[in-house]
Amino acid sequence: DKGNHRHFMAKEIYEQPIVVAQTLRAYLQRLEDKVTLPIPDFDLSVIKRVTIVACGTSYYAGMVAKYWFEQFARVAVDIDVASEFRYRAPVMEDGGLMIVISQSGETADTLAALRHAKAEGQTIAAVVNVPTSTMAREADLLLPTHAGPEIGVASTKAFTCQLAVLAALAANLAKAKGRMTPEEEKAIVAHLAEAPAALNDALGRDEAIEAMAGAVAGARDVLYLGRGTDYPLALEGALKLKEISYIHAEGYAAGEMKHGPIALIDEHVPVIVIAPSGPLFEKTVSNMQEVQARGGKVVLISDAEGIAAAGEGCIATIEMPKAHPLIAPIVYAVPVQLLAYHVAVAKGTDVDQPRNLAKSVTVE
Ligand code: F6R
Repeated sequence: DKGNHRHFMAKEIYEQPIVVAQTLRAYLQRLEDKVTLPIPDFDLSVIKRVTIVACGTSYYAGMVAKYWFEQFARVAVDIDVASEFRYRAPVMEDGGLMIVISQSGETADTLAALRHAKAEGQTIAAVVNVPTSTMAREADLLLPTHAGPEIGVASTKAFTCQLAVLAALAANLAKAKGRMTPEEEKAIVAHLAEAPAALNDALGRDEAIEAMAGAVAGARDVLYLGRGTDYPLALEGALKLKEISYIHAEGYAAGEMKHGPIALIDEHVPVIVIAPSGPLFEKTVSNMQEVQARGGKVVLISDAEGIAAAGEGCIATIEMPKAHPLIAPIVYAVPVQLLAYHVAVAKGTDVDQPRNLAKSVTVE
């Protein structure tokens, strides 16, 4: 049932405030200002190293999580797409935690990576949306997302729920490692608890995004740029756009532009820049200005402060609510999802069933 939405994808984008809240309820004890996991008996302090493996959108959630694990818990993280992980003789030391991330819990490459790591003695945690899935059964530790069934082939609400679980896991690991004071834990709980309302605010920009989608719908190629945790979001934005609108899109680390891709820039290539105000903003804006100096048409996704500072000269801006850096990746997922959605609708493609794609990829 699509409710009053035209497509499952739209319905699922709109469900995010509710399902992220639902997911966070399983990981936050708000009254006690504590982050917890639904695996109370497992001692995270023994974890020496983390390996993250996933595919597609779930892999991008893992890329965001790498920043969190390293920043909060100071635990080294190795991350790879599942189809590459198994074929590179990965070094897995004792005391390692392998985290698989999967909406379906059935993706063949991810499952094969899980089995390989398990045979190598790694502890396996599975962040999955289908609790009865094979990965859920075979993992040592089950960390469910509570996104509910995702029908649209393009993953949306599963992604933001994965981020919520991974943020909570990073905080729990930091706590177990003695790297988080009760005050810091309280602050993290408060920031994560703000995510559903911030998602709601982000959804409020839907009409503005629909109105500017025409600027992208006519393009043959689109670039997405971001730095830090906005880099995986740039990759996710490009993936969403290409899979449902069939426009060629690429995500790049903003600083990598001048090492090659800038040669692609001309007045026909829209460049979507994801840059919330904060410590990385100035650097990303200078990359954005390099694009503008070559005639590139920039769409800036930022908050009011960022847009006031750098919105001039952009062909469009998408204003997000001010979000704490911890929840910004969750909140900024919404505009990239909505942009891809409206571009696809404008192009008349089959949004929920894009060509050549299956919801669950069970072949390697
Ligand atoms: C993109 C998308 C795919 C999946 C990928 C992994 O919108 O849906 O890239 O993210 O096939 O699927 P799961 O998460 O089920 O392992």
